[in-house]
Amino acid sequence: MEKIVIEGKRPLSGEVKISGSKNSALPIMAATLLTDGPCVLENVPRLRDTLTMAKILKSLGKAVDFSGNTLKISSKNGLNPVADYDLVSTMRGSFCVLGPLLAKLGHAKVSLPGGCVIGVRPVDLHLKGLRALGAKIEIEGGYIVTHTKGLKGAQIYLGGVFGSSVLATDNIMMAAVLAKGETIIESAACEPEVEDLGNFLNSMGAKITGHGTPKITIKGVKELHGANYSITSDRIEAATFVLLAAATKSPITVTNANYSQLLVLVDKLEEYGAKIRVKDGAIDIKTPRKGKPVSVTTYPYPGFPTDIQAQFMALMALTPGVSVITDKVFPDRYMHIPELNRMGANIRREGNNAIVEGTPRLFGAPVMASDLRASAALVIAGLAAEGVTEIHRAYHIDRGYENLDQKLIALGAKIRRENE
Ligand code: UD1
Repeated sequence: MEKIVIEGKRPLSGEVKISGSKNSALPIMAATLLTDGPCVLENVPRLRDTLTMAKILKSLGKAVDFSGNTLKISSKNGLNPVADYDLVSTMRGSFCVLGPLLAKLGHAKVSLPGGCVIGVRPVDLHLKGLRALGAKIEIEGGYIVTHTKGLKGAQIYLGGVFGSSVLATDNIMMAAVLAKGETIIESAACEPEVEDLGNFLNSMGAKITGHGTPKITIKGVKELHGANYSITSDRIEAATFVLLAAATKSPITVTNANYSQLLVLVDKLEEYGAKIRVKDGAIDIKTPRKGKPVSVTTYPYPGFPTDIQAQFMALMALTPGVSVITDKVFPDRYMHIPELNRMGANIRREGNNAIVEGTPRLFGAPVMASDLRASAALVIAGLAAEGVTEIHRAYHIDRGYENLDQKLIALGAKIRRENE
């Protein structure tokens, strides 16, 4: 196992180019199971998660060639309907092979994704949607075992206790493209990654409208063909670098980002006192000497993303005054609080809220990464802190940030990996 060692408080500046979106790439890779034709995906980030998904596709019978950021996926001798525990349990995103396998083969056996440190993550909405399309589903030995005599379009309300679900919307949309007749998903997730998946499916011959809105209409087709597609840029990576620029008060330009997907963050950072300018897809951040504390609550898109809650908390930890951060999407996603406190932050949890009493300085310390976005928060805190921060279990960050070390070193950071 590796740890990341950061020498903090170095002056950072320059340009950073955002990679392709992990959360778009994973379901789009799964969607290639819906066709026997060849698919070429460009701008795929090379990450632990996309490499895991490539392995899953291979285990399901696809031929996969991942070179640079281009992924070529084609068919060999037909599909294997079983997605194994060993692979699926390492990454929740892999559960979105369920919809395509069922639609293409009429049956599938996919391991339940298992527990996760960011909270309980049920799959009831996935199952409800697939049942509405005519799937019979049993849970046997930790696997979802499902079959159908033919999926049929249906009207499905997909809202849950915590709002819409991204991967459930993806799974149902992918199952419905090959179903007979029309499917309407109400209370669908509106995240840009769902829109990206819908665009990819349409490029394969699907007939989907309304993706990216709460009402998606899918007219089933008999089959899909292969397609070439370029994955959209990663809004969470872009937001992480914008927050890193603010927390370290560094003049950083973020390029290849989609500004319109970051408006809620821009709004909060303007309240904080930052000046943000955008020109030709490049975002410039000018940070005030003294920012104001800002409270945020996470919601499904276009609300404040849960995937940048931890990174925003790192910024607030460094902003004198009191802010309240509430996660309504994953109400237990606060594993980063004790780690930030080890660095001198003053954050406490009250029910589902984090109360942050900001301080002007943080100090390097050994800390533990618990999950992907919590690790990003610790990297931001480490870069802004005085002294050396060691982030243990560095593998978490490699699940979702492409070439993070190189990108930071190019900005002037002192960061290295060491074996534990
Ligand atoms: C996706 C993202 C993840 C992000 C999350 C919320 C991928 C690969 N991952 O995860 O990075 O943090 O969206 O934006 O795209 N829920 C249910 N029943 C279900 C499914 C979900 O109650 O069947 C709940 C979850 O527990 C959570 C909320 O709905 O409280 C939203 O989760 P969901 O949108 O499903 O997250 P994922 O799609 O797993």
